[in-house]
Amino acid sequence: MSWVAIDKDKCNACGICALRCARCFTFANEKVSVQADENCCIVCGHCVSLCPTGAITHSRMDAENFEAVGTPVHFQPDEFMSFIRQRRSHRHFKNRAVSKATINRLIESARYAPTGSNVQGVEIIVLEDGERKKKLSDLTIDFFIERGRMASEKLQTMPSGPQTPARLQLEKTVRYRDNMLKAKSVGYDPIFHHAPVVFMFHSLLETSTPKDNCVIASTTLGLFARTLGLESTYIGLLEIAARLYPPLDEAIGLPGGHEIQSVLIAGYPKLKYLRVIDRNPIKVRWE
Ligand SMILES: Cc1cc2nc3c(=O)[nH]c(=O)nc-3n(C[C@H](O)[C@H](O)[C@H](O)COP(=O)(O)O)c2cc1C
Ligand code: SF4
Ligand code: SF4
Repeated sequence: MSWVAIDKDKCNACGICALRCARCFTFANEKVSVQADENCCIVCGHCVSLCPTGAITHSRMDAENFEAVGTPVHFQPDEFMSFIRQRRSHRHFKNRAVSKATINRLIESARYAPTGSNVQGVEIIVLEDGERKKKLSDLTIDFFIERGRMASEKLQTMPSGPQTPARLQLEKTVRYRDNMLKAKSVGYDPIFHHAPVVFMFHSLLETSTPKDNCVIASTTLGLFARTLGLESTYIGLLEIAARLYPPLDEAIGLPGGHEIQSVLIAGYPKLKYLRVIDRNPIKVRWE
């Protein structure tokens, strides 16, 4: 049984579907046929989207959700580049909640981010509850304090000599610990920065490109959030701790085989950046 059907009355035999998807479609003698199933079809929907006469339907996809593209959205390149350059990591937020409706719109944007082999395996935990945020933040801090303690011990046993990358890394780990302790002592949350909402993106590890999928989803959400007046920041610290610190992993409680692959905090920004920021040119090798 094919997942994809062609309405022969609507088909004009243009062959576009077979050009796009030779794995599932066959075009011969001015006729097209299809056998789409788990052997060839990744449910990308391209055939449905491309068919000029609307002859194709896919049984695994909601036909209602294939709205006509019409006139494609066109951004002015300079404007879009400015949008990219004006994105900043924000860590100070107004004391203003993000509504459920807005959060749902953000999640909807991540839904349409691409995934390797179209696996669509990205899942999101939305953290709004203050107690819950505090618990996960505290556990993350515990992890970095312990890591800092071990780094400090190791530094003391290292023979003095020229600076090495290993020593630099240990010193950085100790500084992290000290900064966290300092922040905590004044009641500041150095992990979630008191953001009203935290998005934790997770995926089964045994799937196509889990890390990329989660990062692309979080990036899509973060950029879309800007159109709604929200700003965000990636929180790699939680991601690292969740992977390496069992008490945190347990407290998060992911489905079996899943791992946190990207974390974003978001909210209405308190600070306004007045200038875009310089960056190193990217090293490029032309071939
Ligand atoms: C991280 C990642 C890796 C991908 N790798 C490949 C690839 O190696 N070859 C390929 O043809 N498509 C690749 N894709 C494209 C996906 O199959 C495609 O994004 C997905 O089927 C959804 O289709 P769409 O991008 O048209 O929405 C990749 C996508 C992502 C996000
Ligand atoms: S793209 Fe549509 S109209 Fe063209 S051959 Fe395929 S089913 Fe027929
Ligand atoms: S949904 Fe994608 S993979 Fe499946 S038949 Fe259509 S074009 Fe081919």
